[in-house]
Amino acid sequence: SLIVPAAVVSAYLLGSIPFAVVVSRLFGLADPRSYGSGNPGATNVLRSGNKAAAILTLLGDAAKGWLAVFLAARYGLSGAAVALVALAVFFGHLFPVFLKFKGGKGVATAAGVLLALDWVLGLAVLAVWLLTALFSRYSSLGALLAAASAPMLAAMMWGASGQMLAVGVMAAALIGKHWGNLQRLLAGTEPKIGAKKKAA
Ligand code: G3P
Repeated sequence: SLIVPAAVVSAYLLGSIPFAVVVSRLFGLADPRSYGSGNPGATNVLRSGNKAAAILTLLGDAAKGWLAVFLAARYGLSGAAVALVALAVFFGHLFPVFLKFKGGKGVATAAGVLLALDWVLGLAVLAVWLLTALFSRYSSLGALLAAASAPMLAAMMWGASGQMLAVGVMAAALIGKHWGNLQRLLAGTEPKIGAKKKAA
C-alpha cells in the first residue's frame, strides 16, 4: 500500500514549514537567517527582541512534529512506520525543501515528536532541556544535554525498537547541527539566552 510512503512524504513537507521564517514575516521582523546565529529557530528569533514571535516559532515548530506523529499513530500505522514519520518530519525541519534544504537545528520539532511518541518520555527530556537552559542560560547546552539523554531514556523506557532507533538518529543529527554551538560553549563564547550574537 501507498499509505506509508504518502505519510512519510506528507510529514517531510509538514516538517519543511519553517515557522521561524513564516512567523518573522507575519510580524514584519527581519528574516532570522540574516542575524544572530543565522539559524531559523526560536532561540534566534528571540534575538530580534520579539518574545511573542519566538514563542510562536517554538510552538509552531513543536506542533508540526507532534501533529505528524500523532496522526500517524491515530490512523493505525505500525510502530516502525510511525518511527519513519517521526524521522521524516524532523529531517523536514533540518533540511526543508522550502529553504533550499538549509533548515533549523531541530530542538522544538524533536520535542513535539517525543511528546507524541510518549508524553512521559517527552516531558522528561523537556525537563532536561528547560532546567539546563534556565540555570545555565544557554539554550544550546540544554538542547545538547536533552539530546544526549533522550536515547538513553528511550532505551530504558521502551527497550530496543524502531522508535528507539529513530530517537537515537534524531539525537545524533541534532547534536551534529549544534557542532558550532558546542565549539563556542567550550571556548566560552556562546551567547546566553536573549543576548545578541554575530552571524556565524
Ligand atoms: O534551538 C537551537 C538552539 O539550541 C541554538 O540556537 O541560534 O543559538 O544557534 P542558536
